[in-house]
Amino acid sequence: MEQVLQQRRRDSLLRVAMPTKRLSPTLIEIDGKQLINFGANDYLGLSWNAKELDSILHDETTGSGSAPLISGYSQHHCHLESVIAGFEGSESAIVFSTGYAANVGTISAIAQEGDLLLSDSLNHASLIDGCRLSKAKSIVYPHNDVQAIHEILKQHRSGFRRCYLATDTLFSMNGDLANLTEIAHLAHDFEMTVIVDEAHATGVYGARGRGWVEECGLEDSIEVRIGTLSKAIGCVGGFVHGSQVLVDYLRNFARTYVYSTSMPESVASNAARNIQKLSGMNAERSKIREASQSFRKQLSEQGLRVPIGDSPIIPIFVESSAKTISAAQRIRELGFFVPAIRPPTVPNDQCMLRVSLSVHHTKEQLDQLQDGLVDAVS
Ligand SMILES: Cc1ncc(COP(=O)(O)O)c(C=O)c1O
Repeated sequence: MEQVLQQRRRDSLLRVAMPTKRLSPTLIEIDGKQLINFGANDYLGLSWNAKELDSILHDETTGSGSAPLISGYSQHHCHLESVIAGFEGSESAIVFSTGYAANVGTISAIAQEGDLLLSDSLNHASLIDGCRLSKAKSIVYPHNDVQAIHEILKQHRSGFRRCYLATDTLFSMNGDLANLTEIAHLAHDFEMTVIVDEAHATGVYGARGRGWVEECGLEDSIEVRIGTLSKAIGCVGGFVHGSQVLVDYLRNFARTYVYSTSMPESVASNAARNIQKLSGMNAERSKIREASQSFRKQLSEQGLRVPIGDSPIIPIFVESSAKTISAAQRIRELGFFVPAIRPPTVPNDQCMLRVSLSVHHTKEQLDQLQDGLVDAVS
């Protein structure tokens, strides 16, 4: 272990956990220094509603005491599931203790021996781990490459009983969006079930904030939809929604659900409250997407490698791990926190500083960060 850690350090890839103190939706303190935080997934600022917390519930129970199928499924968990189903317009929903557990448990329970499972090369680790745990034959396709998916299906589909494709909708590192419309066409033509992870898209895309599937108008054709309570919903936990059969199946066969303690009741109650706010947040959705578009445009006009788009996850590609670390350090000296993203989280040639926007960032803060990035990366 020591040798491997030393090698990671030499390669500028060592990870350390830094104690941080969150002071406001956009301000954190690290090592006694206050920084504007561009490293959180709390896109709509919903993790900050302390005034509304259910203090009695919060004080009385700190844990749920058990796995859900024993005694850890309270009226608050049940209520949260019906709020999720209502918000998403689905027949039913099931809540997991994390988004990670939702992905791992769902994919490994659904895709079985004798099935074919396609997975995007830039999928989140939890989707990848779900594929690894599944007994299906798993094939990784190049990122968002619809032609490659088509070729794989033409070559392999007939040799398998059922076929699944698992993809993030808003990719967590690159901040780009899955080619869902084309994927849905292929799913129709090849009898393939699409499993999407809307972790970063919930709350940010769609007329009611349901995510990228809603924005693409594909709610009737994508059967397995996974989300997390930890990003725009501002809590912690994961969920899957869809048909009653899907939910009943996962409640019985998703091992990360059956064999893990459910989230505390206070979390379930606060998550339900935050979800009920999402559909009314169109102004916030527009604001953050417009801010992203102009931020990206201005950075690329100044010569930085930033793709166009409107998602709140903005990658600024940097040549190497070492340069990414030194740029992140320089940014901190200038008063901002922007995480350095390096392998194995991303491929070797895709090191980046990843800016995550909040609807609470001011124009002035964005302008200052822009100047800081040009200084740190150029
Ligand atoms: C795309 C994606 N899916 C799932 C997860 C896991 O969600 P959670 O943090 O709620 O466990 C993450 C977290 O970073 C993610 O980025």
